Amino acid sequence: MTDLHAVPARVRAGSPNPITDLDRYREHAARAAANPDGFWLEETRRRVAWRTEPTQGLASSFHDIAQGPLSWFGDGRLNITESCLDRHLATQGDKVAILWEGDEPGDCRTLTYRELHAEVCRTASALQRLGLKRGERAIIYMGMVPEAAIAMLACARLGAIHSVVFGGFSAEALRDRIRDCSAEVVITQDEGRRAGRTIPLKATTDLACTGETGVKKVLVYRRTGAPVEWTEGRDVWWHDVVPQGDAALPATECAAEDPLFILYTSGSTGRPKGVVHTCGGYITWAQYTHRTVFDLRDDDVYACVADVGWITGHTYIVYGPLANGATTLMFESTPLYPDSGRYWDLVQRHGITIFYTAPTAIRALAACGDEHVSRYDRSTLRVLGTVGEPINPEAWNWYYDVVGEGRCNIVDTWWQTETGGICLTPIAPATPTKPGSATLPMPGILPSLRTPEGRVIRGPGEGLLCIEQPWPGQARTVWGDHERFVATYFGMFPGLYFTGDGCKRDADGYYWITGRVDDVLNVSGHRMGTAEFESALVSSEAIAEAAVVGFPHPIKGQGVYAYVVLQSGQALTDDLEQTMQGVCRTRIGAHARVDRLQVVPGLPKTRSGKVMRRLLRKIAEGRGDELGDVSTLADPTVVDAIRAGAQRG
Ligand code: WT7
Repeated sequence: MTDLHAVPARVRAGSPNPITDLDRYREHAARAAANPDGFWLEETRRRVAWRTEPTQGLASSFHDIAQGPLSWFGDGRLNITESCLDRHLATQGDKVAILWEGDEPGDCRTLTYRELHAEVCRTASALQRLGLKRGERAIIYMGMVPEAAIAMLACARLGAIHSVVFGGFSAEALRDRIRDCSAEVVITQDEGRRAGRTIPLKATTDLACTGETGVKKVLVYRRTGAPVEWTEGRDVWWHDVVPQGDAALPATECAAEDPLFILYTSGSTGRPKGVVHTCGGYITWAQYTHRTVFDLRDDDVYACVADVGWITGHTYIVYGPLANGATTLMFESTPLYPDSGRYWDLVQRHGITIFYTAPTAIRALAACGDEHVSRYDRSTLRVLGTVGEPINPEAWNWYYDVVGEGRCNIVDTWWQTETGGICLTPIAPATPTKPGSATLPMPGILPSLRTPEGRVIRGPGEGLLCIEQPWPGQARTVWGDHERFVATYFGMFPGLYFTGDGCKRDADGYYWITGRVDDVLNVSGHRMGTAEFESALVSSEAIAEAAVVGFPHPIKGQGVYAYVVLQSGQALTDDLEQTMQGVCRTRIGAHARVDRLQVVPGLPKTRSGKVMRRLLRKIAEGRGDELGDVSTLADPTVVDAIRAGAQRG
């Protein structure tokens, strides 16, 4: 195993983590595989504040998934906010729970566990008075302010189900989500702040709530003080109702399998899916993985610089760290504001020990030059994490050598919205790393590589990544559409969870994710469906047909390549191009930009009318001369025309 990076000594020393070396990792993994019920019941009883401890482990199996959702810890009762807040009051009420840094450097707020507990209770009590009840849905459409986390926890305190919608999504996307889950309440803020600019969150909420949506109340947190439109009877200021709330509001007792939240994510159709996570299993997985993978210690200052609008923010800014009683940083700005030293300025000023970000940010920063890193003191850093897309070895090495000065462990964590938490990863103190590999499965995760026909690949090889056995943190269903859940994740290989990713396993048993094999794009860590772009584009009157694929992009990981067929009489002008970007922005959101646009005479289709996306992908990758046999196309000549007009970077 010559290309392995040994775990740095300072990461190994003094860890309270149960998994401190590779032997112990293997022992835990073997126990979790042999007796999942026993293993996870023991872990959850030790780690989670249950009101009634569960005696049941897993009910049902992947083979019976069509009959109904999986159940973990089915007879347990709890409210997960007691794990995240109440139980810490006696032991560490004055410890900082949330450390917030605003858009402007040094604009900071802290909330201790005692303060956070009181604020969550007051907010829950205010929401209760606005009519929100157990099992009802609240949409949270906010920026990165502590109140976003408070709103999530306040819903959870009532047993209500939150669905956070990333602040970059458009009014149409927000409205679709409000409608899909029949939300009663929307929680938003006047404006968001990001990189010196403002984001009109309340105005977008107003647009999303026009017409019939069923939204009864909109709770508005004041962040910037900008004037906003007001709908009397519906809109309520946070500062008018939260301060009067009950600061000791008792938590509502929930069943282990009550939904905790819905998070919408893109798949291979134009309609995003509301992935449902439930209370008991999710909080167990969030707590366990956050403690073990990052090797969490009591005095850590932990920073995950994702957005709460994505699953990373849910599990590794809010639920995992708070369940572990950690100090978790919330960051409102971007890595490039006011300059590309911002992350390391944060590390120096706050003494950050664990830092978790995405490969796209690492690549963007590496391109800005090492001096932006080296002018800050990073000696507190111990563990560096990455998530969201495959990390190329060059970026991995830059993170290790330049940011971590060769002293820190890198954890390349592979997981998905649907998995709830980390599944393939090094465990910081235990696992020797290889640049570019997510290394080994977490205890309880049994990966299986398959051929497209479903044949098992044993030993080294490359195939489709599946998981063989249920684990507590995984999504249970798609909101309102269990059939779609079953078809999407269990339809390809019955009895197996199919991830949608391709993956290699090397001779040491290490896993190397090669990327999505379906029609999902991963652009700067944002997951988007090609079908969402296509349906946005064809909604423009000028466009007859569109096919969208990804292409390798040096910073973003993947870029968006759109092939469009114009309506007759139309020509590509700057105006038309603006219109196309505009429809993507209004239908999806500000983060949905087409990077390359090519007008083509027609799309390559089979005689049965199916677009051969494989060819389009090859051409977008600049490999148009490796198309192979195109004779099954209805009109093979379109390929030549597409190849000739292909857009290059
Ligand atoms: C997809 C899931 C998990 C939170 C952020 C993304 C890709 C994620 C890695 C990694 C290679 C990765 C996969 C996966 N992905 N982490 N460490 N190495 N690829 O969550 O939006 O649900 O996207 O992100 O393709 O399927 P998501």
